[in-house]
Amino acid sequence: MSHFANVARVPGDPILGLMDAYRADLHPAKLDLGVGVYKDAQGLTSIPHAVKLAEQRLLDSETTKTYVGGHGDALFGSLLSQLVLGADNPLLVERAAATQTPGGTGALRLSADFIAQCLPGKGIWLSDPTWPIHESIFAAAGLRVGHYPYVGADNQLNVEAMLAALSHVPKGDVVLLHACCHNPTGFDLTPRDWKRVLEIVKARDLLPLIDFAYQGFGDGLEQDAWAVRLFASECTELLITSSCSKNFGLYRERTGALIVCAHTAQKLQDVRSQLAFITRNLWSTPPAHGAAVVATILADNELKALWASELEGMRKRVASLRFGLVDALRPHGLADRFAHIAEQRGMFSYTGLTPQQVQRLRDEFSVYMVGSGRANMAGLDANRLDQLAKAIATVCTP
Ligand code: LMR
Repeated sequence: MSHFANVARVPGDPILGLMDAYRADLHPAKLDLGVGVYKDAQGLTSIPHAVKLAEQRLLDSETTKTYVGGHGDALFGSLLSQLVLGADNPLLVERAAATQTPGGTGALRLSADFIAQCLPGKGIWLSDPTWPIHESIFAAAGLRVGHYPYVGADNQLNVEAMLAALSHVPKGDVVLLHACCHNPTGFDLTPRDWKRVLEIVKARDLLPLIDFAYQGFGDGLEQDAWAVRLFASECTELLITSSCSKNFGLYRERTGALIVCAHTAQKLQDVRSQLAFITRNLWSTPPAHGAAVVATILADNELKALWASELEGMRKRVASLRFGLVDALRPHGLADRFAHIAEQRGMFSYTGLTPQQVQRLRDEFSVYMVGSGRANMAGLDANRLDQLAKAIATVCTP
């Protein structure tokens, strides 16, 4: 008898699978616009200098590899919370704290299990579309998952439809919002939109869970935190999942945090006791290295300034690549059709290309992007925008 006889094969992850397919492609002019990683002008995902310097310091000074506690490195938690909520945010005195997690994904999984185990009956509402792993993480935790419209079939942000749907979400449910650089679409809310969302969140007593995976990639480190800080000041309770993968270039070090804002200091500690219990069952204690790097950088004014300028360089480069691609599409008469690429924010663009067009780009030009039409703008090569524009023009021609 085979114990595994009934184990069916499931399709590979739609995003990570592209990395493997791209690596196996022998085409010399292949282009990877799949997974959300930043590539520099040489096409490399280099380690930021500030990270290298911090690692060197750690190598020299680290004296132990013993476990960090269930909530991780306290200095990391405190400095990351300041980066997210603002250094002088009064919540940081005793009503907000971070639990270190393996990446932003770990923070999402921790939130999902916390909601499932400690807030029974609550469903969670995700934007349509959203990062596909949001869907599977909350479903895996057994939560009821609902959707609110965000970007429609016309590839436009539809705020009115979003607000209308949120007004009908069952009172007390959880709503997941993308702080900035919406993944997969790149369409962000304006401050006015955010205020309208906030009114509904308050009126329906919803618990906001804000996914903050791209701080610094939208309009800047402080600007990107605007909505998070607005919600933190106006809502008595809030969950924030923060990632250091992209902005510190620490992808494989799996560094992130779940930041909880609670109504009282005592309630924060109650919640944190539950989080420690859940993390013990999930990963026991978090991986330490990435968090130690982040803490080293954020605790040192010089390193912090270096890191912030490197991040700003990445942000500006992606923004200019967006404009460059739209310009390159102009001779093909496609600049208007793809004008949204320059307006979107962050790493991703929902291009509006159909799954068939995406497949043709891959088969005929070795250009890799997610089947939904999501392209990683941070994977573009400034010297090959014309080549990409020509490929796009070819697949867009009926
Ligand atoms: C992405 O969406 O490409 C990134 O968030 C990386 C990932 O883990 O999927």
